[in-house]
Amino acid sequence: MADRIAEEKIDQIRQAVDVVEVISDYVQLKKQGRNYFGLCPFHGESTPSFSVSPDKQIYHCFGCGAGGNVFSFLMELEGISFQEAAVKLAAKVNIDLDINLPSANGGKKVSKELQSMLDAHELLRKFYHHLLVNTNEGQHALEYLLNRGFTQESIDKFQIGYSLNSWDFVHKFLAKRDFSPESMEKAGLIIKRERDGTYFDRFRDRIMFPIFDRHGNTIAFSGRSLGADEPKYLNSPETAIFNKSKILYNYHLAKPSIKKLQHAVLFEGFADCIAADRSGVENGIATMGTSLTDEHISLLRQSIQSITICYDSDKAGIEAAYRAGNHLHEAGFQLRVAMMPDGQDPDEYIKKNGPDKFRQEVIGASLTWMAFKFLYFRRGKNLQFEGDRLSYIEVIIKEISKLNKAVERDHYLRQLAAEFSLSLEALQQQQKQMFFDEKRKSNGKNEIFHKPIVMAKPVEELKPAHYTAERCLIAHMLKSRDVAYKVQELLAGETFNSDEHQAIITYLLAFYEDHLELDTSAFLIYLQDDNLRRMVATIEMMSINDEVSDQELTDYIKQVLNYQKMLKIKEKEVELKEAERQSDFGKAAAIGLEINQLRKLL
Ligand code: CTP
Ligand code: MN
Repeated sequence: MADRIAEEKIDQIRQAVDVVEVISDYVQLKKQGRNYFGLCPFHGESTPSFSVSPDKQIYHCFGCGAGGNVFSFLMELEGISFQEAAVKLAAKVNIDLDINLPSANGGKKVSKELQSMLDAHELLRKFYHHLLVNTNEGQHALEYLLNRGFTQESIDKFQIGYSLNSWDFVHKFLAKRDFSPESMEKAGLIIKRERDGTYFDRFRDRIMFPIFDRHGNTIAFSGRSLGADEPKYLNSPETAIFNKSKILYNYHLAKPSIKKLQHAVLFEGFADCIAADRSGVENGIATMGTSLTDEHISLLRQSIQSITICYDSDKAGIEAAYRAGNHLHEAGFQLRVAMMPDGQDPDEYIKKNGPDKFRQEVIGASLTWMAFKFLYFRRGKNLQFEGDRLSYIEVIIKEISKLNKAVERDHYLRQLAAEFSLSLEALQQQQKQMFFDEKRKSNGKNEIFHKPIVMAKPVEELKPAHYTAERCLIAHMLKSRDVAYKVQELLAGETFNSDEHQAIITYLLAFYEDHLELDTSAFLIYLQDDNLRRMVATIEMMSINDEVSDQELTDYIKQVLNYQKMLKIKEKEVELKEAERQSDFGKAAAIGLEINQLRKLL
């Protein structure tokens, strides 16, 4: 078996895969004209500036500048090597590679130590589960779970377990199997005693919830105490394999359902997530006792645009839902918020009212984001009192002001008017007023207010003429080998002003030596430099005419070369000043002549 992939194979893969199809697994794309558009997976945004060209088999983001072909897409998004991306793609299109890559973990190369951390977690997950379901030691824990309404089925599905009430069982168990205590401490499974350097188990006498990454590897545990012991949940610390702010509980199991329904339900705790799953809500996920981070959001964005938040309906839960909701709303998700009566959490609700009621009356009856905010701002206010009522109305109008769509604004203003017997005209007027006040205050910078719903336009700064000319030339050179050679001739040994542009045409001319035509995606593989790749993707996305006349080429070249002459003139002018200062009039006159000649060439 080879340990490098042959170039012909790479070519074969490149020709067989479709960039739109691959990217669609991560980004929702909509066709518009020749290209597809969606929300960029590489940076947070709520209007799509990410485009994919099926003709050129490349992608490009006008917002953050990311760009490349199907290989670089996977490399960047999954943080994998070129070879690993090729292996993934080959599998997708059934090309047999016959290659020997270092053991893959979801496509990621793992060091020996990481692998041993993963192995230890895997082993312990099985062992904890065995203790819970098959042994006397775990009997009381199993009873606790069954009492709480956990079923045998979900105990298996979520691989719930039990850790023994022992200070060193896990330490010995792992040591016997040649796991080094240092690594196991780093993995968060055992803890070192300061005083004598001996080790003890982190999790003792707890219900063990394994935490899986999105490939199904066990990377951490959360242990719940059986009684009133504090803390209620003890989590693995942050380790080389576990980063709380990137992990969503149950994502690996929920993913197929999330993709199918194009929707996820977000919970606060695992108990809720598991109870919901038991009730038939299989697209549930939960954060790990942290608030929702940008990383979570970009993970979710890979598969969906719509989410229902189902947090505890107590004060803390409602505040948390409001925060998470704002975050998701700003990121462009369609949102709903599911509520339960009087301070309950989903798990308790399901236990009391059963799965059907949960699906229908909680998830099914969830509120729109706006309706939730109506409720949210009402809390703690007594609307019988004029003062409370007026301040409530004001907050709501402010919220309505943030809505992009006139129809929506109208809808909620009417609702408000009806509820408080106010005149619609007065509310409309106040809303407009508020909108303009906000706009003035934020100097038009506040994005939340009336974000345009049109496609985000490239926010290119104005580039100097020579820069644009170089890009146009490259764009034409990418289209035709003849043009590329013509440009080389016209440059007559001079170079482009931008080093990157010069690098691109150097590669390009070399590429044309053994290719009659340029396939963009193939050229991007050939380039091998991320920055240059991105630039080429950007240039490929420029709209230029198919044909270019010699006159146009000459004009562009002139712009490129003029810039160099201008620089020269500037240089000479400095020299001229210096000569004059030193009263060296002969020299000054000579330089003046040179400057005139250079000017004539422009
Ligand atoms: N949590 C945590 N550490 C704690 C308490 C809570 O990490 N000491 C996290 C856990 O992820 C938990 C979530 O916060 O799942 C929600 O906490 P809470 O509502 O208190 O727990 P419940 O989900 O209601 O758990 P249970 O029903 O077992 O009491
Ligand atoms: Mn609970």
